[in-house]
Amino acid sequence: MTPNTTLRVSGKTRVHYTTKLLTLASTIWFGITTIGLWLFGSYILFFYGKATLTGDFDRWNNVLPHGYVIGDWQGNLVVGIHVLLAAILVIGGPLQFIPFVRQYAPRFHRWLGRLYIVTAIVVSTAGLIMVWTRGAVGDTFQHICISIQAVYCIIFALMSFRYAKARQFNKHKVWSLRLYMVTNGVWFFRVELMFWLLINGGPAGFNPKTFTGPFLTSLALFTYAIPVSLLLLELYFYARQKQNVSLSLFVFTLIILVTVLLALGIVGATMGMWLPRLAD
Ligand code: HEM
Repeated sequence: MTPNTTLRVSGKTRVHYTTKLLTLASTIWFGITTIGLWLFGSYILFFYGKATLTGDFDRWNNVLPHGYVIGDWQGNLVVGIHVLLAAILVIGGPLQFIPFVRQYAPRFHRWLGRLYIVTAIVVSTAGLIMVWTRGAVGDTFQHICISIQAVYCIIFALMSFRYAKARQFNKHKVWSLRLYMVTNGVWFFRVELMFWLLINGGPAGFNPKTFTGPFLTSLALFTYAIPVSLLLLELYFYARQKQNVSLSLFVFTLIILVTVLLALGIVGATMGMWLPRLAD
């Protein structure tokens, strides 16, 4: 074996190793977030779905300060569309990235993909209407941040659709993953907030009555306006492309740490928010 072949062999081994490492981290991240998203989706179906089907719209107000307003049927319709269609995003989203589904049910993937894209645009637009006509918890800064997120959702949805239609599937996958990161922004916000409450043993850095304060300002900024989830995804793409051992190890560690944080947040959100609301 010449020195050159040895280099090539060790180069190949390294490429293989870095890709495997990144795939392992992203698979663990995907598994944990899928569990958390489906728990959130189940809460949406059981809480809002049940209240809506039984005509018990008042129940929305157990959670939403600006949920059901007597006499304002248009506003109520927008809220209903927003919260109910949200279930399609949080339940359907992970299904789109499961290789088995894509491979063995390509028609289902295409059908759900179209539905997901339309729903992302509708839910984001409804969210914008809710924030700027009815108001929402938090301050104007938080409202601006979540509105920026709505714009990301709409643009990324259109980009994902554009590349699927053009049959440029690599670009379609990249834009779909970006879309996934931003449509799940509201879920990240809740789970990260619950992680924060868990490690601090209660509210810290914000006023729970007004839902304002430096912690929530930062959380809104880095979840919605400058989404860290999106930055992490871009870093992951970059590491996959570079195939550098140190960079891959760094990104691997970062993804695993984020996953641990999310896992704790999911436990906090399920036990502290979603389950108690179902029992109310
Ligand atoms: C695209 C993904 C989104 C999903 C899956 C989603 C989901 C939800 C859900 C489930 C609720 C009910 C809250 C709860 O029971 O905990 C809700 C409420 C709400 N969402 Fe969204 N949402 C999304 C995006 C947005 C966006 C982009 C905006 C604003 C631009 C927005 C604005 C609101 C508002 C104002 C409320 C009512 C909360 C309040 O009254 O303070 N949502 N959303």
